[in-house]
Amino acid sequence: MNRIYMDHAASTPVHPLVAEEMLGVMTGAYGNASSVHAFGREAKRIVAAARERAAAAIGARPGELVFTSGGTESDNAALLGAAAARIDRGRHLLVSRIEHHAVLHTAERLEEQGFEVEYIPVDEGGRVDVGWIREHTRPDTTLISVMYANNEVGTIQPVEEIAAFARERGVWFHTDAVQALGSLRVDCAAMGADLVSFSAHKINGPQGIGALYIAPQIKLPPLLLGGNQERGRRAGTENLAGIAGFARAAELAASGLEERREHALRLRAQLLDGLRAGIGGDQFVVNGDPDHTLAHIVNISFPSVGTETMLMNLDMEGIAAASGSACTSGSLETSHVLRAMNLSENVLNSAIRFSFGLGNTSEEIEFVVKKVETIIRRVRR
Ligand SMILES: Cc1ncc(COP(=O)(O)O)c(C=O)c1O
Repeated sequence: MNRIYMDHAASTPVHPLVAEEMLGVMTGAYGNASSVHAFGREAKRIVAAARERAAAAIGARPGELVFTSGGTESDNAALLGAAAARIDRGRHLLVSRIEHHAVLHTAERLEEQGFEVEYIPVDEGGRVDVGWIREHTRPDTTLISVMYANNEVGTIQPVEEIAAFARERGVWFHTDAVQALGSLRVDCAAMGADLVSFSAHKINGPQGIGALYIAPQIKLPPLLLGGNQERGRRAGTENLAGIAGFARAAELAASGLEERREHALRLRAQLLDGLRAGIGGDQFVVNGDPDHTLAHIVNISFPSVGTETMLMNLDMEGIAAASGSACTSGSLETSHVLRAMNLSENVLNSAIRFSFGLGNTSEEIEFVVKKVETIIRRVRR
């Protein structure tokens, strides 16, 4: 069976150029970057070069980037680190309701430790209101965490505006840019955020590697303790091949941005037009904010078919889509993102996320449209 992958928001295939670079590192450099001998120096050089390239791709300076094991670790380090670093100022944090669980569960841990977390609501499209954030920021607020773009519905947040406000009030601002990178131009310095999370496997890089941007004025205590790697900001022997792969993927994400965006927009339009023509515009709802959305994520509810049924049927046809956050799929829990958007129950319980990327074609979309049509007809019968 021809299999179709439309779950790029969960993870992406490694780009051949990334794989090539990683293979070169894995087979050619095996020293420990902390060792003083020539092998160690070579490893250190690879890390330094990758750091420069990755930083350039995201509008940061090399020293502002700490390599981590991925988006989850970056989010954990940002929230736990900020809360601890600013305890003298207060214990109040503002966190959006539609964050990834890497942020939300960390916020819950902070609550258990006596911090006060207020959750920022979103509108029906999944956007936060900066006015609400202004009103709820207090003298003891230490951190605001609002993701750059959402992984389930693709909604883009007004991060520059939040960053400017946060800076004016002396509050640190963290944004999870895991889904934004590769789809939007991410420029850490221009955005003005203090902490920004990244992950390589969403941008055709390897799994298990990511980064946290830390603005120069921020002193963040490390999450992992041990050696003095990453200038004492993250202990542990560097993931040499992963770091090199991340740098290459970040470069490719930046250089091919427009092309990828147009490709995704074309596929998106074809999918929605095809569904309108095939099943009728009244048979589905697109979730999210049409004016502020990532091109490659489209979340659609087919109210006549439940999420699990649709996903299972798509899978039987060889089509991989998702029910929302990849990390929670497999469980029957309703998406916290869609719930925060206050959607009706039948929209909530029938949502499917298609996410496009490298290798998806117009023929595949045609096939998906046809199969969705068949599945809906079959289930209705
Ligand atoms: C928005 C967002 N943040 C964080 C993560 C976690 O990243 P990682 O899988 O690299 O730990 C994901 C992955 O699904 C994500 O979509």
